[in-house]
Amino acid sequence: MATGHLVVAGLGKAAGLAARMARVPGIGLLAVETRRFPDGECYARWLQSPGGARLWLVGQFAPPDAGLLEALIAADAAREQGAGFVGLVAPYLPYLRQDRQFKPGEAVSSRTVAAVLSRHFDGLVTVDPHLHRYKSLSEIYSIPSRVLHAVGPLAGWITARTSNPVLIGPDSESRQWVSRVAALCKAPFTVMRKKRVSSVEVHSSGLRAADVRGREAVVLDDIISSGHTMAGVVEAALHLGARKAFAVGVHGLFAPGARKLLKQAGAAAVVTCNTVPGPTAKVDVSELLAEAVLQDQPRAATGRRARAGCTT
Ligand code: R5P
Repeated sequence: MATGHLVVAGLGKAAGLAARMARVPGIGLLAVETRRFPDGECYARWLQSPGGARLWLVGQFAPPDAGLLEALIAADAAREQGAGFVGLVAPYLPYLRQDRQFKPGEAVSSRTVAAVLSRHFDGLVTVDPHLHRYKSLSEIYSIPSRVLHAVGPLAGWITARTSNPVLIGPDSESRQWVSRVAALCKAPFTVMRKKRVSSVEVHSSGLRAADVRGREAVVLDDIISSGHTMAGVVEAALHLGARKAFAVGVHGLFAPGARKLLKQAGAAAVVTCNTVPGPTAKVDVSELLAEAVLQDQPRAATGRRARAGCTT
């Protein structure tokens, strides 16, 4: 393999996404095997040597912990085999929601995970990270990071599959993506107010019948986890006279029972991006990711701590 050759490798369920990225000319694909020992420990083996390559590992972080450990172990093994640069593509970047101490004594896990990943990788590419109280990943990541937005692919799906849509953001944080997707769809949008009582009790308010009556409501959020945020808004939109309501998320984490909850709420369809694989992952972000790693050219010598040419 030529030194500095750009390659991607997908870990576990991210193998499909990595293969799609490698359809773009200029990106090679390496195979890495990962599995579990009977006691649950991670095993990783490079089936083709990453020696000399500029490698982007594509990880799968829903659920997060096993995927994170797999990525660290595979990255170290790649480096031991001579990879000149090891970056992480985290299509969904976990551990961002605990971005402060909400109660005394709580761990701010976002900082811990960022510190560990920054030690093991030379660069980071991700899609729509949950930046709420942090304004930029550089507040906690010390490696170059690049943030991509799925607004284009999401707008493509909404335009093709809905008619006379109104986009609804369930909380103030969602304004950033809802407004951009709505502009691309040339559709109106509204943003609600959300009060979270617990991880499974959440109330969004402020939707008016005039916003949704006779329209197809598209509820758009960055993450669908327990499904309670989306389910509440879908129910409200239908109750207020929307013709249909779609639950659309960037990252479909789907805690147990979440899909059932959305179905019971009356969602006409539940759709997410393939940042997390699964039956709802209908919106493809592989080209966005491929472009990002292609654009990432080293400024000087590659190697540990070399700048990835990414911006936050
Ligand atoms: C949080 O603020 C996020 O933007 C989502 O609204 C949230 O993670 C959704 O969680 P759930 O599906 O558990 O209501």
